Amino acid sequence: MILELAEQHDVEQIIFCSDPSVGLKAMIVIHDSTFGPAAGGTRLMAYPSEVAALEDAIRLAKGMTRKCTLARSGTGGAKAVIMAAPEHKTEGMLRAYARFVERLGGAFLTGNDVNISFEDLQILADETQYILGASESLGPSAPVTAHGVFSAMQACLERVNGSAQFDDVTVAIQGMGSVGYELAKAVYSAGGRLIVTDIDSAACQRAEDELGAVAVPEDAIYASEADIFAPCALGAVLNASTIARLNSKIVCGAANNQLLTEEDGDALYKRGILYAPDYVVNAGGAIYVRIQRENPLAAPADLMQGAEEIYATLLHILKESEQRHQPTHRVADQIADEWLSSKKANGNPLEPPHDTL
Ligand code: NAI
Ligand code: PHE
Repeated sequence: MILELAEQHDVEQIIFCSDPSVGLKAMIVIHDSTFGPAAGGTRLMAYPSEVAALEDAIRLAKGMTRKCTLARSGTGGAKAVIMAAPEHKTEGMLRAYARFVERLGGAFLTGNDVNISFEDLQILADETQYILGASESLGPSAPVTAHGVFSAMQACLERVNGSAQFDDVTVAIQGMGSVGYELAKAVYSAGGRLIVTDIDSAACQRAEDELGAVAVPEDAIYASEADIFAPCALGAVLNASTIARLNSKIVCGAANNQLLTEEDGDALYKRGILYAPDYVVNAGGAIYVRIQRENPLAAPADLMQGAEEIYATLLHILKESEQRHQPTHRVADQIADEWLSSKKANGNPLEPPHDTL
């Protein structure tokens, strides 16, 4: 059954890691290494079953391949999941996991994802050289990701309003975490209005106090009257139930795997809601990886500038979607998969879309 799943999703390799002495159960999914060593964050979560963990890792790894392809990060795509509730995370568990990563000899490069903090990355980096985004001088990836999401919003506004200005624009952000809060700050500084939600009421309160945001209950965020809905918490939030309630003309946020199914992307398109594909929008981490690997002297400002490439990449996809009369998520998949097949076939990927602008 596991190998069938791998075949179905074109997965190259799956590594299962176990160390009962520290309660470690982890899975590393290397989806594709055509463009280089496979990169992807490590997520720590309590999953209902091993199959659920594996399916999540595979889906996320597949997204990483497309994300890294379009971000020209020179890496393939991968993802790892550690099966544990955040309150059971220990230093010993992280160290044991990192030793498994080290053993792979660089075939897998990892960074942070849900429930793995910048501080956790420092612990991992103590045990393995194959950690990305742990540099003290460059700092965490979240501000870079948030800047990329902001650039993506500008591209969406440009297409929908004919102007990338945020005056009179309301953004509803789901999740006031590391990325969501930075994004809220950027929208506020640009003159936009904010509606926010989070399961952590203190995080909402901070946005109300510091950014003049209006906080709403978790489930009310979908129907908020906003120009942009920005999912910055969990995946699968765009589904039949939520899409019917959306009151925004644009969906553009940081969360990975926002669509529950491909058909949900089609449903957004039919409703005339512009969906900015998640792995295009949230490629700030992948761009960070590219710049960190290419330039050991890079500074945080280089990362922020790099994240602005997302504006052009997304604009290209939005224009193609209009020309092809196809939903944006399908067009993004087609472009990423074409580059990948072209590289696989002759080692010569098609030109990046930036050059066509
Ligand atoms: P985080 O863990 O700092 O923030 C997530 C926030 O969402 C937390 O404040 C949490 O309380 C809140 N939340 C959880 N469930 C919620 C719910 N049902 N309703 C409302 N809020 C809820 O995570 P971070 O780093 O901000 O990442 C956010 C998303 O962006 C994740 O899906 C992550 O995979 C994705 N992402 C993050 C990148 C990064 O550089 N940190 C890069 C690319 C994607
Ligand atoms: N986890 C983040 C993402 O989903 C950041 C990351 C990118 C981590 C690339 C490692 C490698 O994009």
